[in-house]
Amino acid sequence: VKIFIQNIAQLVAVPPGPVCGAGLSSPPIVENAALLIEDGRIAWFGPADQAPTGPFDRRIDAGGGTVVPGLVDCHTHVVFAGSREDEFEQRIRGASYIEILEAGGGILNSVRALRSARIDDLVAESRPRLERMLASGTTTIEAKSGYGLTPEDEIKTLRAIRRLDAETPVELVPTFLGAHTIPPEYAGRADAFLDTITDEAVLRTIRDEGLAEFADVFCERGAFSLGQSRRFLTACGEFGLTPKIHSEQITFTGGTKLAVELGAASADHLECIDDETIATLSDSETIPVVLPGCSFFLGSPPAPARRLIDAGLPVALATDVNPGSCTIESLPLIMSIAATLLKMTPLECLVACTANAAAAIRRADRIGAIAVGHQADLLILDISNVNRWAYQVGVNPIAKVIKRGEVVLQR
Ligand code: NIG
Ligand code: FE
Repeated sequence: VKIFIQNIAQLVAVPPGPVCGAGLSSPPIVENAALLIEDGRIAWFGPADQAPTGPFDRRIDAGGGTVVPGLVDCHTHVVFAGSREDEFEQRIRGASYIEILEAGGGILNSVRALRSARIDDLVAESRPRLERMLASGTTTIEAKSGYGLTPEDEIKTLRAIRRLDAETPVELVPTFLGAHTIPPEYAGRADAFLDTITDEAVLRTIRDEGLAEFADVFCERGAFSLGQSRRFLTACGEFGLTPKIHSEQITFTGGTKLAVELGAASADHLECIDDETIATLSDSETIPVVLPGCSFFLGSPPAPARRLIDAGLPVALATDVNPGSCTIESLPLIMSIAATLLKMTPLECLVACTANAAAAIRRADRIGAIAVGHQADLLILDISNVNRWAYQVGVNPIAKVIKRGEVVLQR
């Protein structure tokens, strides 16, 4: 099947990730462009006056708008039960995120809710979130477990993620965050908890059913130490799960260096990263993932994204959507926050949410770019200049969302 997209004012030809340093600000932009999709893949793109001549099975008129790759949200906790607006208010009144966590609330409130939810409820509660994310341009979402913290409840979450992948147009990439925090029944006994969650039978089920591609750990005061993080990621690695890590979010723990040492796909958060660690990342394949929605939502200092980019790194951005530290589902809103708070230009934000986000989930050879042979995950925007997207904070210019060559959403 050949689908021809015509009448494109700007086509932002984001190259396959990782895109490093200064490259983030200068993806090629083709003015007056066209694009050909063949069997779900990008077959050609370029100036309209050089376009291949038909016959085509279908034509799509971009209406003088902009075409960009579908957005990739490479760090989310989007599959959860319940909500925590009471903590939101406690924090507004002065309590800190970590105080609430250490007092047995925070993540643990979501753990209680998830444990009592049936898989059908979990799927039903999460589906509208995915639909809203798709409507704001996100075509691929990494989704973590981590609110179950028993083998059964973690596997229940991973199975819910798999069902959502099958039942929605969004492509979901599953991550086993078995070490998100220490559940109350193991308070003060983190290592005994890790024994249960890295039990061979559990990891074998995850591997044999293909329930996760990545393993992730919250390396933080009040959660898991550096040694415990290493232990968890190593155990998961033996069953084929690629490491990821929540590092240097609230305190500096050295988790990012551990990520580099273990060949992690990404090190995420990085609010408290130092220059020495930035240098370590430069010599690695580990993608730094910055989550400015968290800083916005918690009112805490953001990661030094500008320093990371200026050090030549392939920075990615993600929502981190979750019920506690950031409820923002929209990557375009994250782009606006990154522009204003982190001083990233609109094009840097776009590359960080596409090519580099795809690299953070090891799919850069297939998604996150406009390149011949890549999956046709595309957005048609009702703006004639791509820079207007991040600039028009909270305004949704999406006219069409295309996933694997199919129009899955029209507005
Ligand atoms: O990425 N930091 C740990 N995990 C999440 C928050 C999870 C929650 O509060 O429910 C994060 O910020
Ligand atoms: Fe997170």
